[in-house]
Amino acid sequence: MSAVVGVVGAGIMGRGIVQLFAQAGHEVRLFDADADAVVAAVGFVGSMIERQMAKGTLSAADGAAVTARVRPCSALEDLAGCAVVIEAIVERIDAKQALFRELEPRVGADCILASNTSSLLISAIASACEMPERVAGLHFFNPVPLMKIAEVIPGVLTDPAVTARLVDLVERAGHRAVTAADQPGFLINHAGRALYTEGLRLVEEGVTDFVGVDRIVREAMGFRMGPFELLDLTGLDVSGAVMQSIYEQFQHDPRYRPSPLVPPRLGAGLLGRKTGRGFYAYSDGERVEPAEAPAPDAAGTIWLGDGVGQEVRALLGDAVVDGPEDPSQPALLLALWGEDVSGAAVRLGLDPARCVAIDPLTDFARRRTLMYSPATRPEVVAVGHALLARDGRKVSVIADSAGFAAQRILAMIVNTGCEIAQRGIAAPADIDDAVRIGLGYPAGPLTLGDRIGATRILAILESLQRISGDPRYRPSQWLRRRALLGMPLTAS
Ligand SMILES: NC(=O)c1ccc[n+]([C@@H]2O[C@H](COP(=O)([O-])OP(=O)(O)OC[C@H]3O[C@@H](n4cnc5c(N)ncnc54)[C@H](O)[C@@H]3O)[C@@H](O)[C@H]2O)c1
Repeated sequence: MSAVVGVVGAGIMGRGIVQLFAQAGHEVRLFDADADAVVAAVGFVGSMIERQMAKGTLSAADGAAVTARVRPCSALEDLAGCAVVIEAIVERIDAKQALFRELEPRVGADCILASNTSSLLISAIASACEMPERVAGLHFFNPVPLMKIAEVIPGVLTDPAVTARLVDLVERAGHRAVTAADQPGFLINHAGRALYTEGLRLVEEGVTDFVGVDRIVREAMGFRMGPFELLDLTGLDVSGAVMQSIYEQFQHDPRYRPSPLVPPRLGAGLLGRKTGRGFYAYSDGERVEPAEAPAPDAAGTIWLGDGVGQEVRALLGDAVVDGPEDPSQPALLLALWGEDVSGAAVRLGLDPARCVAIDPLTDFARRRTLMYSPATRPEVVAVGHALLARDGRKVSVIADSAGFAAQRILAMIVNTGCEIAQRGIAAPADIDDAVRIGLGYPAGPLTLGDRIGATRILAILESLQRISGDPRYRPSQWLRRRALLGMPLTAS
């Protein structure tokens, strides 16, 4: 017989958790301090089941059985007999501690008490209990039935058998369970910091604007969404608070530093979709995509530096000037890793007024990134842009930045994943699966790093750290050691 699951809190998360476990064959008992919320949640789960029956993905008999397994409760006493009780109530430690204190004498000694908290320490919630060893985090994502991942978080005193039982419960329900230490942001919210903070950082430095960052992340890097679309979706109030909280909890480690661009936008009420305007404007719930300037109508020839790929050469065709660099030619196109145009031009002894650079990291078939220095002449940028857009592909034109936009964002994502591994917060396979499933990235951070090569990621970060002087870019020891030893980042 399958375990009886209790859920306390019938809001957005509670109702999703109820649906997940009822569909997985468990009897699920639901309690909320607000009796109307229970009624609404049971109705919601019923409507989700009906939708599946209408689509033909669930038979009428199975659908009826699922709804019959959901038991509304009017008192905490009704949760006696549960094998596990999952709380998804208000995000306040005093409320969660009080609930667990009340629950403990009402449930059996082997009942697990699990918290769906996003940001509170499990060990601190557990400290209110007679038996802290039975308390763990069980962190789902919204919408619970569709986001097929949950973090199982043992507190400092949690019995390993409790962790194992929760992993088993989640996996039997068809979700991937990853185990994460009781550390700020656990695994997924920790891993997600890099994309947001580096995206904001690029805008702060005037490299490009927020639409520019999103286009590069989405089209040139192959991510489903850019950081600013994501911030608009979650709401800047929620995401801004998470950014601040994780930074505070990591004792102001500059890797997690939030951006001064956020508070004025919060002050102005530009929270995102829910207020109709965030980084983007919304019309009838649809994002209004700002128009992108077309490629200029410019012609000219171009000299290619070392490392410019064959596909670039093939595209530029007869515009390429071969042989030694000739001062009579206007444009010099460089391919750079972890460097800006200014630094590269000086290092190579080239005229910076004639230099632009292309990012060799990104998907050339989708979108190209062209970067210029403060000294580059506008007509050189125009020729570079026009030539790279010859086949109709889009070109992002950005100001000088060591590592362009994509290399910086990718290196930070990989470094953060490496740091999660180095701190023992989670195992490599769990880190990659959690980020892929929970954040929807094309691959996990360690796999992304291995695709480019640990040595190259390390070189980008070392260059960024040297050029910017910012300890934010210091490489994780996980990355450094594996790069030095020629080992994959996914190796533990
Ligand atoms: N919303 C998300 O995307 C999300 C994602 C992951 C985790 N979480 C976490 O899940 C928890 C719930 O979030 P939510 O978005 O579902 O909240 P919600 O506001 O939608 O629902 C909370 C419910 O808990 C009830 N409640 C509050 N205090 C209670 C108490 N003491 N006893 C019983 N019931 C009580 C409320 O009446 C309400 O129905 C929070 O800890 C939150 O941080 C939320």
